[in-house]
Amino acid sequence: MSSAAWTPVASLDDFAASDAVKVDVGGKEIAIYLVDGSVYATANRCTHGDASLCDGFLERHEIECPHHQGRFDVRTGAALCAPAEIALATYPARLTGDRVELQLD
Ligand code: FES
Repeated sequence: MSSAAWTPVASLDDFAASDAVKVDVGGKEIAIYLVDGSVYATANRCTHGDASLCDGFLERHEIECPHHQGRFDVRTGAALCAPAEIALATYPARLTGDRVELQLD
């Protein structure tokens, strides 16, 4: 059984100003969302256009793109409404103490 390594990328303190935070790690731009004490991670760039999703509006498990208001489920990456149609990449995320860790293949 193989297990991918967990990489620390942020801490809970990083969410003081916003529940959606961007990190650049391993050549990827990733958005991390804090919802009800759990963390989720998706690609930060909207699949519809060149927008940074961590600048959007997070409501429960849905992130709304700041450009055209497409919405995605941060748990699955699924596109939920037009004009967003293509799912976001997602990454396993967890909290270890106050540290946010991701699995990046
Ligand atoms: S750029 Fe995100 S919905 Fe258009």
